Amino acid sequence: MNLHMLDSSINDHLHQVIPERDEVLTEMEAYAKERRFPIVGPLVGRVLHQLVLITNPTRIFEMGSGFGYSAYWMAKALRDESAKIICTEGSQDNADRAMGYFQRGGIANRIEYRVGDALEIIDETTGTFDIIYNDIDKDGYPQAFRKAIPRLRHGGLFITDNMFLRGRVTTDDTDSRILGVQELTRLLYESDGIFTTIIPLRDGVSVAVKL
Ligand SMILES: C[S@@+](CC[C@H](N)C(=O)[O-])C[C@H]1O[C@@H](n2cnc3c(N)ncnc32)[C@H](O)[C@@H]1O
Repeated sequence: MNLHMLDSSINDHLHQVIPERDEVLTEMEAYAKERRFPIVGPLVGRVLHQLVLITNPTRIFEMGSGFGYSAYWMAKALRDESAKIICTEGSQDNADRAMGYFQRGGIANRIEYRVGDALEIIDETTGTFDIIYNDIDKDGYPQAFRKAIPRLRHGGLFITDNMFLRGRVTTDDTDSRILGVQELTRLLYESDGIFTTIIPLRDGVSVAVKL
């Protein structure tokens, strides 16, 4: 199954009409394609950028930063001089690569990159966040939800990528990744104190606001 859940002609159309990315994002996209590394891509990157423009956050926590593509989109939309994104990533190589891109993009001063398990790092980090963006291993999604929601300010956003798992979320498969996304979907729609929508761009991105 294709990663893009949109009709492929619509998907192609959108990729043709969106503006070119800057030199650094273009290079990141090429690197991801060459390595078959799962980045959010430009359609969802633009959603993240737009949500940052709308909410003007000062503190963002990203779970599962890879080599920094999604954080780059968010960082470029920050307007508050003191605003920061805490990135978390299991791989030191990805973290090193990300910092190189952030330096070239002039946004390194807005990012703190921490290597380790996002689900532990959030416990070790104090304070609340305006946005928590979740893109870790999918079996950890319910745990990410349980840790993230109490750490958001009221009006803050919990955003998650890959809510469709290439369509596998609708199957009876008992793979732990599928069960993780299915459980998160129920939590997002059934929990009190949040309001969720899922945007069907690419592999599905959920946006929950804490009431
Ligand atoms: C799908 S990629 C995300 C890439 C990034 N969000 C983007 O779109 O540019 C997921 C990344 O999260 C990392 N990861 C997975 N589980 C993690 C965890 N529990 N803590 C920290 N990093 C994790 C993986 O090493 C991988 O680089």
